[in-house]
Amino acid sequence: MTRIHLRNVTLDNFHECIGLEVEESQKGFVASNVKSLAEAKVNPNLFPLAIYDATVLGYEQPRSPMVGFTMYEIDAGVGFIIRLMIDHKYQRKGYGRATILEVVRRLKLYPEVELIATSYQRGNEIASKLYRSLGFTDWNIEWAVNHKSDIFLKLNIAFDASIFEIKI
Ligand SMILES: CC(C)(COP(=O)(O)OP(=O)(O)OC[C@H]1O[C@@H](n2cnc3c(N)ncnc32)[C@H](O)[C@@H]1OP(=O)(O)O)[C@@H](O)C(=O)NCCC(=O)NCCS
Repeated sequence: MTRIHLRNVTLDNFHECIGLEVEESQKGFVASNVKSLAEAKVNPNLFPLAIYDATVLGYEQPRSPMVGFTMYEIDAGVGFIIRLMIDHKYQRKGYGRATILEVVRRLKLYPEVELIATSYQRGNEIASKLYRSLGFTDWNIEWAVNHKSDIFLKLNIAFDASIFEIKI
């Protein structure tokens, strides 16, 4: 099973992070990493993280390249996965799925997080399939319904224990 390791974005890996790219056809589905990092600089509720293969764990200098980037937000009782991208060179190897599992694990550690949620752009079938296969279901919160271009999903923490039993 593919495993990942999350690490902070620092001066050491910043350039690598902003150099990551999704497939050309996916560019409309996710903001650039440089934009996400700029947002995180001014918003203390945002947590940007670099994604590595788990073989990097324990090494101060990663022995293999960064494979992707994710960012979550903790606000109003919700842990919201607002960004997830895997560089085009490393897609379809299980890194996206492994990252969601790890981010969900982290979000569950915050006592104030009562709901885990995410969104994707309408038409992003890969993201839809991926999140729904991990137990996310439609979140019809009023303000979400008004964002017609995005689909919002939620994961009720109380009901999702089985995803770890199945996937690990
Ligand atoms: C969505 C994304 C993060 C998935 O990352 P990934 O590492 O390729 O995903 P995984 O390898 O873990 O695969 C997850 C599932 O998606 C499927 N999938 C991944 N890429 C696919 C593709 N190009 N076409 C069809 N299916 C694909 C996999 O087959 C897998 O399904 P399975 O378990 O039933 O086989 C990646 O495609 C990406 O960065 N997309 C652009 C940004 C984006 O859309 N982010 C999400 C919303 S913010």
